[in-house]
Amino acid sequence: MIYLKNAQQLDCMRRSGAMLYEVLCRLREAIKPGMSTAELDVYAEQLIRKHKAIPSFLDYQGYPASICASINDEVVHGIPAEDAILKEGDIISVDCGLIFDGWQADSAFTVGVGKIAPEHQQLIDVTEESFFKGIRQAINGNHLGDIGYAVQSYAESFGYGVVRDLTGHGIGRAMHEDPSVPNFGRPGHGTRLRAGMTLAIEPMITQRGWEVAQLDDGWTIVTDDGSWCSHYEHTIAINEKGLPELMTYPGYVLTEEA
Ligand code: MF3
Ligand code: CO
Repeated sequence: MIYLKNAQQLDCMRRSGAMLYEVLCRLREAIKPGMSTAELDVYAEQLIRKHKAIPSFLDYQGYPASICASINDEVVHGIPAEDAILKEGDIISVDCGLIFDGWQADSAFTVGVGKIAPEHQQLIDVTEESFFKGIRQAINGNHLGDIGYAVQSYAESFGYGVVRDLTGHGIGRAMHEDPSVPNFGRPGHGTRLRAGMTLAIEPMITQRGWEVAQLDDGWTIVTDDGSWCSHYEHTIAINEKGLPELMTYPGYVLTEEA
């Protein structure tokens, strides 16, 4: 069941999204060689609570932290740890969510630690751009497959792999609502998009193959072939005008160019 949000509910989600944007900006600035992902997690929870919001990941199905911190060949859902120390040349994805006034926001970015190899920077840049290719399709009357196709065709044109076993999702009062939002698809296929839909779109792009596996910790997802992975996510809406709007990136204006 897809819950469409009215104008007032979209405003609530804009408020949650803007808070999460602030949190992620601070986290991005804090990432330095020598830091542990556990430190980053403590900082995230402090920032979220300072906004009088609730960390949505903490205790979600038993998850033990406020962020997911996934390094290099880890795709998503890496658990922060004292002994996970960031070192120069790594890439780290930070995924975080919060609830304010009952409304969820969910967003992730990947960034290099210190100086990184050009091939890894390209992976990060292409993943972000694949997201923006996708979200430009999030228009009233289009289909879910238009988003997935846009993400997939852009990422694969670089020889990258598009993870299939995990997808984006609807979001609202719950972190995960219908529909599931794959990062692959066929134009014109899948659920029709409507004004008032709120979605977390989150491409997970690898250097090579799309196959992934879960570690024994029951959470961390890694690539099968050891290739590194980048993840980028925003909570978006198809807004009152039927156009894509980034809830977790306030002020970002989508341009018309393809
Ligand atoms: N942000 C993730 C998602 O997009 C959820 C993280 S799972 C949790 O679905 F357990 F860490 F919360
Ligand atoms: Co998500």
